[in-house]
Amino acid sequence: MSQLIVKGGKPLKGTVPVYGAKNAATKMMIASLLTDELCEIRNMPRISDIDVTKELCEQIGSEVKIGEDRVCRIQTAEIKTSLVPELSRKNRLPILALGPLLHRKKVAEVPVLGGCPIGHRPVNLHVDALEQMGARIERREFSYYAEAKELHGADIHLTFPSVGATENIILAATLAKGDTTISNAAVEPEIMNLITMLKDMGADIAVHEAVRVITIKGVSVLHGTAIDVMPDRVEIASFAIAALATEGDIFIPSIQRSYIESFLETLNKLGGHFEEKDGGIRFWGRKPYKALYIETQPHPGFLTDWQQPFCVLLTQAEGESIIHETLYDDRFAYTKDLAAMGASIEILEDCPEGRECRFKGKGYAHVARIKGPAHLINGRLTVPDLRAGMAHIIAGLISEGETHIFGIDHIERGYERIDERLQQLGADIQRVE
Ligand code: EPU
Repeated sequence: MSQLIVKGGKPLKGTVPVYGAKNAATKMMIASLLTDELCEIRNMPRISDIDVTKELCEQIGSEVKIGEDRVCRIQTAEIKTSLVPELSRKNRLPILALGPLLHRKKVAEVPVLGGCPIGHRPVNLHVDALEQMGARIERREFSYYAEAKELHGADIHLTFPSVGATENIILAATLAKGDTTISNAAVEPEIMNLITMLKDMGADIAVHEAVRVITIKGVSVLHGTAIDVMPDRVEIASFAIAALATEGDIFIPSIQRSYIESFLETLNKLGGHFEEKDGGIRFWGRKPYKALYIETQPHPGFLTDWQQPFCVLLTQAEGESIIHETLYDDRFAYTKDLAAMGASIEILEDCPEGRECRFKGKGYAHVARIKGPAHLINGRLTVPDLRAGMAHIIAGLISEGETHIFGIDHIERGYERIDERLQQLGADIQRVE
């Protein structure tokens, strides 16, 4: 069984590249299904979630080539089949293909969603929205089956600004008859990156970010395009946190602060440092760090995918920190391993006083109380999900002794060659087959 062996205690130093965002690149591959022309998606990350999405597109009929130059050339001249119910169900992308497949074939069937085990992850908002747009959707044992002679525009209010549901509606609305308005839409930068691609393809989309409204006027045809995937915001934060946790000093080239404002704000409050220079950002820090209250929120708030690595950093802060996870109802499973390594972390069901969220009173363990600073010692950890895997690696980087991390296929879904890039920064981390 593959594992990572990490020997802690070395401050990370140097320059590290960050690659294209998983949660934009995969959606762009799905967006390419809306046209029979060639799309070029540049700055692709080499991660297994891309392979899973490639498998989905190829099964549908796409020709997909991803070169050494990190360019994905994808063209779906013809849909071979729009019924792909038996795919591996390894990620949450297939449901986003419903709109494009309905436009091109009028029937579609995709597997029930996979993805990380981080709580209930319903798709009611996706299904309700597509039904409002004229689709008939049937939940089968392992799949969703959908039919629509024609999708039409609709006024859709999301009860929660779901990233996936917003993307699903946008994809379906581009070629629908008439206009669609999404209110309480998600406005994550990866969605804006996807919208840039769709507009280049000929879609008519307007975004009113401050009020969370997106309007799409349906067009009759979309064309091929070329688009750059934005840098991965979770990778940026993960490396920055690893640098601060190890009291190191790193530089990430070619990134903009606008993607990560709420992260930088939090870093400031902690007592960490950053500096924009030469088109990138330098991150560094030295203890003591200050304890914090963090609440995960839809963009522009603190991203839920940052909370696991940040939790490790908070084990090194002075005093009591709280993380209030308001996106997912069960995203603290990884803290058991951190506790076994010596961290003082208590998981609670009640919202912190005066900070209610939609999980209030439902018995979900969605709040972490962390007391620091803690001395971490070596552990044997099994990664429960992608972002937790990064938390485990950072815990290994700051702990005494040798940490063994199993289940690294989860990490490879979203981080390209993480061991090699950390080695480049001076970390003692080895991958053993
Ligand atoms: N939700 C519903 N009904 C729905 C859809 C969502 O109740 O129909 C709820 C979910 O249960 C969850 C919340 O809304 O509690 C947020 O879900 P959302 O739909 O916004 O997330 P997602 O599209 O499933 C994407 C990313 C996640 C990231 C979230 C939030 C992808 C493939 N995944 O998930 O990334 O955490 O947005 O930003 O884009 C990761 O990369 O590790 C990851 C989990």
